[in-house]
Amino acid sequence: MSAQVMKGLEDVVIDTSSISLIDGNAGRLIYRGYDIRDLVSLSFEEIAFLLWNGELPTRSQLYDLKAQFKRERPIDENTIELIKRLPASANALDVLRTTISTIGTGPPLRRPDMNQAIAITAKIPTINAAFDRIRNGKNPVPPSSEFGHAENYIYMMTGEKPDTDKANALDKYLILLADHAMNASTFTARVVASTLSDMYSAITAAVCALKGPLHGGAPAPALKMLQEIRKPELADAWIRSALAQNRRIMGFGHRVYRTTDPRAEILRWVAGKVADPDLLRLALQVESTTIRLLHELRPGKPLYANVDYYSAVVLHSIGLPTDLFTATFAASRSVGWSANILEQDTNNRLIRPKIEYVGPLNKKTIPLAQRPDILSVEGN
Ligand code: CMC
Repeated sequence: MSAQVMKGLEDVVIDTSSISLIDGNAGRLIYRGYDIRDLVSLSFEEIAFLLWNGELPTRSQLYDLKAQFKRERPIDENTIELIKRLPASANALDVLRTTISTIGTGPPLRRPDMNQAIAITAKIPTINAAFDRIRNGKNPVPPSSEFGHAENYIYMMTGEKPDTDKANALDKYLILLADHAMNASTFTARVVASTLSDMYSAITAAVCALKGPLHGGAPAPALKMLQEIRKPELADAWIRSALAQNRRIMGFGHRVYRTTDPRAEILRWVAGKVADPDLLRLALQVESTTIRLLHELRPGKPLYANVDYYSAVVLHSIGLPTDLFTATFAASRSVGWSANILEQDTNNRLIRPKIEYVGPLNKKTIPLAQRPDILSVEGN
């Protein structure tokens, strides 16, 4: 009797967690008991503390965390040399993946701990910014202890004190993306952690899972779509044609939300503060057109904007190049990944599901010389 196959592990509950909760029907996202709509007015550092420790920090705890972040931001000369050796044409997420893996080269099988979580989260913006400057023929800008996490990220990209609206927009973006229940990259991190591998390996693997356009790789194609559509009045024809060709509209749909992703709603508001008015008007028109056309052409299967749609508008408006969009997602999600790795480690059980075998049985091997050529090529 064969087991029921849960393709894509949809609705499969793999463990218990007290880190974050998505209420997909109500469009709510909760971190450690707090609604994301309330948390977005705090700072990224406070949210990191909350996700890692379960409670919001006191003033002295926040002071200490900010100080540790600042100490951990720099990357050493060897890491900068490594980034210089990678091709300038490389995708920023590939550079981040390789760099996290390299800085994690140390004594084998260290148990995950909070200091590693803070060090990785502190260094990701430094890695992203260093790569962007190096590929543009500029020297990396060392982190400044004058600035908070988001401000410092923009400062290391530009070498200039960042505009307050842009820094606030990035801070809110980093808060909103920091954790999201059992998504693909967090699951990946937990699978690696469950083998008692180390935190750097688990986060490197999570970065790999984040890369795909069905997960964290959608903002760049979402922006490309807006740039192709160009004008609000051309949205209807473009979306109609894409749907007629069965193409996915990037930045729409979600495995869990059955209404608008709350992060997209907040980022739409954030976009209103930093986006060029023409781009914002276009994005709003494409959003309403997509929802209307899906209702008209595929009744009963509504889709709404997800976080990646307005992330694209916000990150572009802050001045980030498109291939840094997903690498910046990683700068935020490293908090959720590491919180999940630490939670997994406190009560670990190897994650080892099954797969239903549907291949042949009882085949007999044939000596190589007797196998028809076609078999030996296919079987290579
Ligand atoms: N455009 C057009 N049709 C869509 C889309 C879309 N963006 N998303 C889903 N559908 C259709 C899909 O074709 C399918 O139709 P049918 O039932 O007729 O075959 C139906 O909706 C269900 O699709 P699914 O792929 O089974 O649903 P899922 O829950 O696995 O998909 C998703 C979730 C995010 C992969 C999908 O909505 C998608 O591909 N969206 C576009 C890419 C994107 O925006 N990714 C970012 C995800 S949000 C970031 C994060 O939280 O990780």
